[in-house]
Amino acid sequence: MSGLFITFEGPEGAGKSTNLQVFAKALRAAGCEPLLTREPGGTPVAERIREVLLSHHEEAMCADTELLLMFAARAQHLDGLIKPALAAGRVVISDRFTDATYAYQGGGRGIPVERIASLETWVQGDLRPDLTVIFDVPVEVGMARARARSELDRFEIEQQSFFEAVRATYLQRAAAEPTRYRVIDARGDLEQVEAGMQPLITEVLERWHA
Ligand SMILES: Nc1ncnc2c1ncn2[C@@H]1O[C@H](COP(=O)(O)OP(=O)(O)OP(=O)(O)O)[C@@H](O)[C@H]1O
Ligand SMILES: [Mg+2]
Repeated sequence: MSGLFITFEGPEGAGKSTNLQVFAKALRAAGCEPLLTREPGGTPVAERIREVLLSHHEEAMCADTELLLMFAARAQHLDGLIKPALAAGRVVISDRFTDATYAYQGGGRGIPVERIASLETWVQGDLRPDLTVIFDVPVEVGMARARARSELDRFEIEQQSFFEAVRATYLQRAAAEPTRYRVIDARGDLEQVEAGMQPLITEVLERWHA
């Protein structure tokens, strides 16, 4: 595949969606038109699965159902959108991807990492993001931003300990594979976070031209 696959990760309210737009604008200014997408979702069928995953149900959703739905949506997303775009040489930026599954269903829900890894291989083969940007904020900061923004979804109502595990899992994964991950300190205001992304924008443009 000839494109570049970038994923934006981090806990609730870290600023992924906001900064993804800023990042994309900078790429466009340099003549690169990225494909922007999100998980769970990205195609009509995958967006339907997203609704099931994020909405509240009277029945508790068991952790395996949640995990399998995440990968079901991902299979659709890869097949219908991500792989064709990468094959066409595009820069694809996804607001969350499989690292979120490790963080939320693994760290948060406690599903063993091996089980997630086996689904990752099943659904993705050897496809992994070329670059994963983690927006890191203390849990309270992210939750306060998320709360101020909108009604809370099925994940956002979890306890502090759940989000601490999510955050810790992201940071562990980044530390274990520094070539793929970049951690951005997202505690500051939007201007500071944007400044923190500058080296990354330069790097992506260089890799895109290469
Ligand atoms: N650095 C920042 N300083 C202050 N407010 C911010 C900052 N980054 C984002 N926000 C605000 O916090 C809210 C959450 O940001 P955003 O939606 O980008 O986060 P997210 O990581 O995409 O969250 P989610 O995981 O819930 O989708 C938004 O209202 C956004 O404007
Ligand atoms: Mg978002």
